[in-house]
Amino acid sequence: MKKVRKAVFPVAGLGTRILPATKAVPKELLTVVDKPLIQYAVEEALAAGVEQIIFVTGSGKTALEDHFDRSFALEASLEKKEKFDVLKKIQSAELKDGALACVRQSSPAGLGHAVWCARHLVGDEPFAVLLPDDYCVAQTPILKQMTDMYNEIGGNIVAVTEVPRDQTDKYGILEVGKDDGKLAEVKGLVEKPKPEKAPSNLSVIGRYILQPEIFKHLEEKQIGAGGEIQLTDAMSKLIGAAPFHGLRYQGNRYDCGDKSGYVKAVIATALRREDLASNIRDFMKEI
Ligand code: G1P
Repeated sequence: MKKVRKAVFPVAGLGTRILPATKAVPKELLTVVDKPLIQYAVEEALAAGVEQIIFVTGSGKTALEDHFDRSFALEASLEKKEKFDVLKKIQSAELKDGALACVRQSSPAGLGHAVWCARHLVGDEPFAVLLPDDYCVAQTPILKQMTDMYNEIGGNIVAVTEVPRDQTDKYGILEVGKDDGKLAEVKGLVEKPKPEKAPSNLSVIGRYILQPEIFKHLEEKQIGAGGEIQLTDAMSKLIGAAPFHGLRYQGNRYDCGDKSGYVKAVIATALRREDLASNIRDFMKEI
């Protein structure tokens, strides 16, 4: 079985749900305390053994690439001022030469279309997809939980969690077969069904391990929910060809494409940080 070596990050989205913050700043660069969302997601992929990072990017997003590049002027200045702790922090975001590749998505035609744009860089091997606005916090990074499971069972794996019934129309939803409480066999997938039509309340979060056969289905460019080419629709065509499971992960996910999800992520992260927790807790009591 081939290892998961590549990860695709669809980062061309416009971030309209969080305007005006994202008018000139890519939503993936919004910070949770002191690190941008994209860096958390890239670190999660590297921690899962991924070697090749692929950004599907678009106009106005070049700052994303720069963030992972070397900044000579900044490094020289920090070195001169002997600010070695900050220097170490910015160097930790740099990716090895050749580890980052970017392709452009020229129109916002949907998540499925974005992933399809990466087809030549992915080639004929399994790969991960991470949506950086799903900010994940877990003792074992969620993608690592998925690659560990993938190494045992193979096939396609999506990270899943139960959502309130009235929120099924925000997510990809599973029709579940055999279910042992951790792994749920995927029998069907529907993108953003209305609560009364949803086959369950088990939803997909932005972490996927997919077989390259997905590209054949994305190639059909079927228009789905919201008039977009949906990854969920192409994934549903993979069912039956190989094992397909939803993995209930250990940890927390915050939807940072949404204002309240973003604020919750910042608060939860600050309260978990040794250097900030007591200060922030006191402040919250005070207000
Ligand atoms: C996308 C997917 C959806 C998935 C969600 C996870 O939706 O299309 O299936 O459940 O991400 O965050 P979006 O958030 O882009 O509307």
